[in-house]
Amino acid sequence: MIPPIILDKMESNRGRYVDELLGFLKIPSVSTLSHHSADVRRAADWVFNNLKRLGLEAGLHQTERHPIVYAESARIPDKPTLLIYGHYDVQPPDPLDEWVSPPFAPQIRDGYVYARGASDDKGQFYTYLKAIEAIMAVEGKLPINVKVLVEGEEEIGSPNLGPFLKANEAMLKADAVAISDSSQFVQGVPAITYGLRGLSYLQIDVKGPRFDLHSGSFGGMVHNPIMVLTSLLAALRNEDGTIAIPGFYDDALEPESWEREEMAGLHFDEERLKEYLGVEVLAGEPGYSPLERKSTRPTLDVNGIWGGFSGEGAKTIIPARAGAKVSMRLVPNQKPNRINALFRDYIEKLTPPGVQVRVTELHGAEPVLISRDQPSVRAAERAIEIGFGRAPVFIREGGSIPIVNLLTEILGSDSILMMGWGSPDDGAHSPNERFFLEDFHRGIRSAAALFYELSS
Ligand code: BES
Ligand code: MN
Ligand code: MN
Repeated sequence: MIPPIILDKMESNRGRYVDELLGFLKIPSVSTLSHHSADVRRAADWVFNNLKRLGLEAGLHQTERHPIVYAESARIPDKPTLLIYGHYDVQPPDPLDEWVSPPFAPQIRDGYVYARGASDDKGQFYTYLKAIEAIMAVEGKLPINVKVLVEGEEEIGSPNLGPFLKANEAMLKADAVAISDSSQFVQGVPAITYGLRGLSYLQIDVKGPRFDLHSGSFGGMVHNPIMVLTSLLAALRNEDGTIAIPGFYDDALEPESWEREEMAGLHFDEERLKEYLGVEVLAGEPGYSPLERKSTRPTLDVNGIWGGFSGEGAKTIIPARAGAKVSMRLVPNQKPNRINALFRDYIEKLTPPGVQVRVTELHGAEPVLISRDQPSVRAAERAIEIGFGRAPVFIREGGSIPIVNLLTEILGSDSILMMGWGSPDDGAHSPNERFFLEDFHRGIRSAAALFYELSS
């Protein structure tokens, strides 16, 4: 059990913890935008310096794109080792004009801190560093061995993480892995996530005539790339909301009946969600509840679309080009490679002569299911109960975290603890992302309690 004196220490340092977090949130570490690469590097340095200040042996490892920061505590024999993972990169903040306060000028309103990365994942990851700090300040040493792995490429699919894990298998060996990059079931109901969906992310480019044409002089003689594109996109989905790509559902594992029962018992508030989202009805695959659809069923979404003229007024043209970004969320046992191949075949079959259609794979992640039946999961349950004052529920999440599958494949880890301190209404990837500061402190307490629960 965590000594109460450590909890007291945390209590008296709340203000400073928040101030420090604000410093982290000010760095615009947007991994997908190349003009931010110096900022991403600054965030890596910020994390590296924090880890060094905690007395850990820290290193900054260059990759082809953004650095990986890795640190270890001084080794204590006969104690288990916990690998802590987080990501210091964030999603682009646009649309900027929808933010009440600027995305990289963190502001506290009504007990929430508002900033890009507040919840995903800077604020959640930072709890572990403050837990380490408080324990070290009181006890001078940790009750377990910790290894900390923080990357700057999670939001772009972790392209350089697999090779790093492979090259450092021995160094990264651990008895359990802690990841706080998901969320509670709803704010106030903490959760352990035992499943994630996978991802296939593609871009479709349609090319027609060599340049934009007068739609009077040429309309009726050539294909319009936007109309070809929208027909292709429309053909991806059936009228009832199911996905029309032949073979798409072949490998999709149905949720177990006990899972469906458990989910049905979770008090999912559909009315509140509709109000939060500003929609009158929820939509999706028939035969499954909204909760089942967002965590146990595969989906397809168009993320963005472009082409032609969209400025003020009217311009009569046939555009030369059009394009769209499409993502598919995958469930066990769907494989991104196979799904990409099915997608390509289907698009190719539907493409009319006279236009060129190119499908490019941007990134992906494998779906995962983690066993709930292990001692470290019991330790995580107890730790969350200490930190949040109530036991967690178990959920499957709809998002993806590429490292989770890489850990199972490369390091053979089966003990991965996904404990979200955030909430589904934190606005991750949306404007006005936020993190409830009370949950930040609960997360710090839970992280510290976890170290003690794992040590015995
Ligand atoms: N923290 C999220 C993943 C997540 C979201 C977990 C919701 C649980 C619930 C992560 O930062 C993320 O956004 N991942 C990307 C993965 C991708 C870029 C490979 C995602 O899910 O879109
Ligand atoms: Mn994240
Ligand atoms: Mn994210």
